[in-house]
Amino acid sequence: MHKNKKEWFATWFDSPYYHLLYQHRNENEASQFIDQLTAYLGLKTSDVLLDLACGKGRHAIQLSKFGAMTYGVDLSENSICQAQKHENVHLKFEVHDMREVFKNNYFTHVFNLFTSFGYFDMPSDNLKMLQSIHQMLLPNGILVIDFFNSHKVIQQMIPYEDKEIGGILFHLEKKVIDGKIIKNIRFSDQGKDFEYQEQVQLFTKEDICQMLMDTRYKVLDIFGNYALTSYEKESADRLILVAQKI
Ligand SMILES: C[S@@+](CC[C@H](N)C(=O)[O-])C[C@H]1O[C@@H](n2cnc3c(N)ncnc32)[C@H](O)[C@@H]1O
Repeated sequence: MHKNKKEWFATWFDSPYYHLLYQHRNENEASQFIDQLTAYLGLKTSDVLLDLACGKGRHAIQLSKFGAMTYGVDLSENSICQAQKHENVHLKFEVHDMREVFKNNYFTHVFNLFTSFGYFDMPSDNLKMLQSIHQMLLPNGILVIDFFNSHKVIQQMIPYEDKEIGGILFHLEKKVIDGKIIKNIRFSDQGKDFEYQEQVQLFTKEDICQMLMDTRYKVLDIFGNYALTSYEKESADRLILVAQKI
């Protein structure tokens, strides 16, 4: 297990302030996306699903409503604690690092949603994550990766922005360094100053397709938004790849 608490994603995503800043990425958004995905994938109740890096479980909760056994895992203990309040016979959550295998040869579908990829400094860790997913999938299993459209992220980047949410004024600074988008998040709460960082690799469609091919997946489809219309580099909000284990 990678338990280095100094990695940015182990601290920021485990804080309540992450959930406050991203509160607009809520259950409604998740439910609409999962409705589209479920219809497109033709999910069956006999399928076994994994929401990898599930956060508080907004997608896993929706997925489980179709009756298939659904697991959600995440590195953040606080998020998993919240998610576990929704557990039932079809839905289980656990703390787990996505670079490691959770259950071997077990899942029909693995979902990695809302830019939960490209966090690791070492390129080998991104590949390790894809290899672990490969090992967790049953033969011909399906992986769905929902990443940002890095082209649009760069085009529309606002270098400085202040956002007041829940009585907290977040100062956000974004820059591109070494192929990563770095977001610095500064704010004060109850007289205490906080500073966090997000760092995500600006992977292109071609980068992710290459990584998928290198780790033995076949790319089946690429969509550009949560309504699952086709990906266009200039206009797509998202980069959603559907790949099959080969
Ligand atoms: C942008 S959030 C998305 C969460 C969730 N998929 C959603 O849509 O609400 C990224 C998630 O990845 C998780 N994460 C980051 N590094 C991880 C790792 N190494 N293993 C498992 N989860 C990780 C974070 O804790 C966080 O919950």
